[in-house]
Amino acid sequence: MPEKPSVPAGSFTSVLNEKRQFKPSAAFSKAAHLGSEAAYQKLYRESIKSPEKFWGRMAKQELIWQRPFKKVLQWKEPFAKWFVGGALNVSVNCLDRHLGTATANKAALIWEGEPAADGKPGEERTLTYQQLHREVCRFGNVLKQKGIQPGDRVIIYLPMVPEAAIAMLACTRIGAVHSVVFGGFSAQSVADRVQDCGAKMIITSDGGYRRGGVVPLKKNVDDALEIRTSEGIHLAASVSSVIVLRRTGHEISMRTGRDFWWHQEIEHAASECPPARMDSEAPLFILYTSGSTGKPKGILHSTGGYLLGAKLTTRYVFDLKESDVYWCTADVGWVTGHSYVVYGPLANGGTSLMYEGAPNFPEPDRFWRIVDKYRVTILYTAPTAIRAFMKWGDQWPNKHDLSSLRLLGSVGEPINPEAWMWYFTVIGKKRCPIVDTWWQTETGSILITPLPGVTPTKPGSATRAFFGIFPEVVDEQGKGVPRNTGGKLVIRKPWPSMLRGLWGDNERYKQVYWSEVKGSYFTGDGCRQDKDGYFWIVGRIDDVLNVAGHRIGTAEVESALVSHPSVAESAVVGRPDELKGQALVAFVTLKTGVTPSSQLREQLRQHVGKEIGPVAKPDDIRFADLLPKTRSGKIMRRFLKQVASGAEIKGDTTTLEDLSVLSKLSSQDD
Ligand code: PRX
Repeated sequence: MPEKPSVPAGSFTSVLNEKRQFKPSAAFSKAAHLGSEAAYQKLYRESIKSPEKFWGRMAKQELIWQRPFKKVLQWKEPFAKWFVGGALNVSVNCLDRHLGTATANKAALIWEGEPAADGKPGEERTLTYQQLHREVCRFGNVLKQKGIQPGDRVIIYLPMVPEAAIAMLACTRIGAVHSVVFGGFSAQSVADRVQDCGAKMIITSDGGYRRGGVVPLKKNVDDALEIRTSEGIHLAASVSSVIVLRRTGHEISMRTGRDFWWHQEIEHAASECPPARMDSEAPLFILYTSGSTGKPKGILHSTGGYLLGAKLTTRYVFDLKESDVYWCTADVGWVTGHSYVVYGPLANGGTSLMYEGAPNFPEPDRFWRIVDKYRVTILYTAPTAIRAFMKWGDQWPNKHDLSSLRLLGSVGEPINPEAWMWYFTVIGKKRCPIVDTWWQTETGSILITPLPGVTPTKPGSATRAFFGIFPEVVDEQGKGVPRNTGGKLVIRKPWPSMLRGLWGDNERYKQVYWSEVKGSYFTGDGCRQDKDGYFWIVGRIDDVLNVAGHRIGTAEVESALVSHPSVAESAVVGRPDELKGQALVAFVTLKTGVTPSSQLREQLRQHVGKEIGPVAKPDDIRFADLLPKTRSGKIMRRFLKQVASGAEIKGDTTTLEDLSVLSKLSSQDD
């Protein structure tokens, strides 16, 4: 049993930061979609006074419906149905709608591949809306030809290449449900996801480039398709075909009758593919994310509400316009890549830039080179990346002309005021507003954020609620707390892009999100509102860690560790890390007769990499004779956290089974 979440005491937010405010410039406000507090207040008040009326109006105005909806919301807590009775197709809303307009021949996607280690530039491709539409239709026909039907699940395991977006949109074209798996996840993770959602097909590539190396995606898929549990269960038995994109040209094995090359399949595919008529509530995608217990949860999003959230927030939060070159640096394997690389920008007719590689390969100026080369106007990235850029030094951005930038965004973890100020000054030259956007895989789109042109920002605060959103900070009893008091962040009312459940597990959905605070959605985050009502997110208060912007469940890493033959027991906690926000520290007890060694430590790290993926490898593994436990047998993570961060051990230790355990743990320094 995990310990009950408790509200963290403090964070880096100081009164000094709250006093430091940055108002949008008059020039920015004048040109923005929403440029004054009065205009914002008018819309905000409407959205709060009658949210259903507001969302209904927005849904009619923003989306193209094949069949109009009859009712805005049907709410049977905790199950929501938005735009009941309506039918629409996401690919029509992202592509077809632009075809008869001036947008048809504008760049929808600009892509740059990873450059070679010798400095040879990466490949470049641009797809106009017209071209993207054609590719999506052709690939949609390939999916159909391979027997994929509306509602079937398709796993997408690709690098950051345009085909990732094409595959996602092709699924939406024919009504299939995609589940994108980040390329950094292992064969085991692919197999687990296939099994959970019963996927019929996997779309992958012969590899992806990363820091000069090749990630063997097809090889991982081959391995995933073979995995059997100790009881002999074949995890990926549901998969009947694998489509393979040629990306690197490296040799891979292809199994006749199961594996098909993308380029061969598409060759004779028709470029017309009638869009499926999808119910507003039809599942759109499943995205797996870590929780406090067990295996990753399949977050389920549905069609109409999700698209409305992604579209509206992209327009207002990023002030996206005709002329923008918009770059969200997230991988499509994460929700940010879904909403803000693919669906949000395309639904708005924007130009979305995709980059395949890492920020520091071959040199730490990769991002700034790209901003300069493509005249990027909006940049949306994560605090981890910003902190790394700070460390690498100002000389890298300073080598390039960043004058095209007009807006900067941050997402994925709390941004410390120092990183915020560096981003603002060195990258934005004090000209560009920063939008620090708070949201989650579950929320589908941004819920708490400044609106550029309107909201005065404070470094480190995600500021205020988006239209039609009701966040509140509450105490253990679920009551709202006074300003400047820490508590749990909840969302009081349903919103269109909220998750519709966990794939195949309604009970877990109820229990994780709707039982902690009665009648409200529990975010898992700690938060505080300042005197101006601004939200300051402190971070996760459950057993989920945020390592370099990636969500990692401690329980998942623990079970990966104990699946190693040498390990008896393990407990994983976070410690603060200057670059990654949090780092993973694993306390491990070994089976009798196994002696700790640095080789074993490395073996365990590799083992976790194999079980989950490189992102989950512990930064630090500490061997212990015993783990501190209460008399009822619960591991006392609180103490382990203190030990991991080198802090003096505080709090009530009287329930500890064996006090001497603590001194042993803290005295171990290797
Ligand atoms: O703890 C919050 C943190 O990231 C968590 C959600 O992670 P994930 O589902 O992977 O989605 C990340 C991208 C939307 C949240 O519970 N988080 C996200 N954005 C912020 C944040 N913490 C502070 N400030 C943010 N802007």
